[in-house]
Amino acid sequence: MIPPDLRGRRERDPFWVAVNAAFNGIQRFRSLRAPAPPAVRPVDRTMRLTVQEVRREAEDVVSLRLGAPDGRVLPAWQPGGHLDVLLASGRRRQYSLCGDPADRRSYRIAVRRLPGGGGGSVEMHGLREGDRLAVRGPRNAFPFLAHDRYVFLAGGIGITPILPMVTAADRYGADWSLVYTGRSRASLPFLDELPARRVTVRTDDEHGVPSAADLLGDVPAGTAVYCCGPAPMIDAVRAAVRMDATLHYERFAPPPVTGGKPFEVELRRSGRTLPVPADRSALDVIRDVLPDVAYSCRQGFCGTCRTAVLSGDVDDRAPSDQGDDSMLVCVSRAASGRISLDL
Ligand code: FES
Repeated sequence: MIPPDLRGRRERDPFWVAVNAAFNGIQRFRSLRAPAPPAVRPVDRTMRLTVQEVRREAEDVVSLRLGAPDGRVLPAWQPGGHLDVLLASGRRRQYSLCGDPADRRSYRIAVRRLPGGGGGSVEMHGLREGDRLAVRGPRNAFPFLAHDRYVFLAGGIGITPILPMVTAADRYGADWSLVYTGRSRASLPFLDELPARRVTVRTDDEHGVPSAADLLGDVPAGTAVYCCGPAPMIDAVRAAVRMDATLHYERFAPPPVTGGKPFEVELRRSGRTLPVPADRSALDVIRDVLPDVAYSCRQGFCGTCRTAVLSGDVDDRAPSDQGDDSMLVCVSRAASGRISLDL
């Protein structure tokens, strides 16, 4: 408010008008001379690691040991953690850490080769000792929590997050057991690293495909069940596990689409409109025509497939896929009709 003039009047006094103008001029002059604030630069948390060792662990499975080129200590991780791997092709993939968390100079991951997959596993199998690999993390979406009793269930390459958990449970004296399943013994990586006394190996060629009851057995109340494997295995275990046990699971393949309705996805930049049937994800349909579209987990938690929505309403199907003009095309769908994407 303009103060009263020297005679107590409220109209604009030339004296105060002059004082204000001088003050504003000084402020403007100072702001012109002040150095511009430094630009905010995004922090690049990518590590460029060297492939130190490639080992064949089972049919179509190799492990890779990664370390810093200068041998420095790497960020710590806990059982259940994974790395985001940024491949030279631009693909991103996530691989569970399956080495020893106490080893701070190297990470170990393992990859099953899937020739009919999205190409990431084939590219990983092409890596050789001495190659460089860009990674981010470690991150943990499958935390291993302290319990007195565990039942671990692993299907094939699903052993990778379970292996460090088993080792930790064994180290601190928990009561635990593991059922490890797969097509055949030759397809099961890391069998020789598991303490045989607590491990039951069930292979399809010897025992047939196991039911959830075969896997779970008689789980005592209060047991923590940790499960990683193909989607049908996890779905069966989820349906069968008793109410007083706690179930923790991680899929390495996307869950089937349930409750989906057909819609159309318009790829505005590509000039294509594609029908998405009720039982397929938008990502899978888009990959048919844009095979290099970015994705990783295909389960709605990594954010790699987030795509700008240009028009249409989104049926958000991931907790993190809400509140802005984009969608995770691996799980979310159009609420109705058609959705247009910036692809
Ligand atoms: S691929 Fe991970 S959120 Fe879609």
